[in-house]
Amino acid sequence: MEYSYKPDGSRYDRMKYRRCGRSGLLLPELSFGLWQNFGTEKTKEERRELILTAVDLGITHFDLANNYGFPAVGAAEENFGEILREDLKDFRDELIISTKAGYEMWPGPYGNWGSRKYLMASIDQSLRRMGLEYVDIFYHHRPDPETPLEETMEALSDIVRQGKALYVGISNYREGEARKAAAILRELHTPCLVDQIRYNLLERWPEDGLLEALEENGAGCVCFSPLAQGALTGKYLTKIPEDSRAARKGTTVAERYIKEENREKIQRLQRFAGERGQSLAQLALMWVLRRREVTSVLIGASRPEQIGENVKILSQKPLDGGEQEEIDRILASC
Ligand SMILES: NC(=O)c1ccc[n+]([C@@H]2O[C@H](COP(=O)([O-])OP(=O)(O)OC[C@H]3O[C@@H](n4cnc5c(N)ncnc54)[C@H](OP(=O)(O)O)[C@@H]3O)[C@@H](O)[C@H]2O)c1
Repeated sequence: MEYSYKPDGSRYDRMKYRRCGRSGLLLPELSFGLWQNFGTEKTKEERRELILTAVDLGITHFDLANNYGFPAVGAAEENFGEILREDLKDFRDELIISTKAGYEMWPGPYGNWGSRKYLMASIDQSLRRMGLEYVDIFYHHRPDPETPLEETMEALSDIVRQGKALYVGISNYREGEARKAAAILRELHTPCLVDQIRYNLLERWPEDGLLEALEENGAGCVCFSPLAQGALTGKYLTKIPEDSRAARKGTTVAERYIKEENREKIQRLQRFAGERGQSLAQLALMWVLRRREVTSVLIGASRPEQIGENVKILSQKPLDGGEQEEIDRILASC
């Protein structure tokens, strides 16, 4: 095996990059997440193809977490580390790699939530699994209702001081929690780079204050599950295709999104997208990116062609005001 990839020379002309809050960091409008498909769901060659397709399309940001990977947590970081070593070792400085800690990772009282003990151990484990000296962004994955926020934020700040992460972020923090976290991090002189949140056509809660709060605090916003895990492609309208995420054991797409109450919305949105000459997936991504507070949409993919289709939004006509109102009407009326 003799890899070491030669990326497409025009990749940076194919992507658009947005500034992440008031930081120096630019992120691609589409980032790629390794939550699914980077354990044993795919072969090594298929995983490699997904990552390298993304790189060739100008996607510079790859998002992981300590617990990603099927069936074993940590597998996604290990498998990504392998691709980095074999194909991308000369390109570390062209990549933004993020990881997170906040969900259950190992047994006992120190392998979950937001204590300093957990975060410090977890970043070291993540770096070992990926074979990296540092990650670009280290996130606290979800708010911890019991650990003082000061302790969690101080641990994030110290991880930056130790050189193990360049920037820190929070994830799944709602408006009040995000404002407090950003204020503590500001006092520690480690700005809160970004909040990573779920935002899509079926879940609009970030519009009720969070997006404005992030902008006020100079933080960016990375939006995960912009396609509602695939439901916003229309693929589940008639059945669950055998090769889809919902057909795999242990996934959450069915319970979260494949619901009668969403069917008509998805059908009407699909028709609306068709009239604009695009797929529903493309409309859904473009709709999230219409907000200036959003830095990047974080997509997943099970096949390289999906990444190709999704990135095509960059050359499509953005939604104008009238079209946005029409989408609001569709979402409100069914
Ligand atoms: N911070 C957090 O708590 C959190 C939580 C969840 C996710 N995330 C991050 O966000 C990333 C993305 O989340 P997600 O995977 O839920 O995102 P998503 O983009 O909403 O869903 C991705 C899935 O949709 C399907 N798909 C994508 N493009 C398609 C296309 N053009 N046509 C048809 N199907 C398409 C594929 O599933 P099929 O298998 O059906 O083909 C793909 O795996 C994750 O990898 C992770 O990095 C973070």
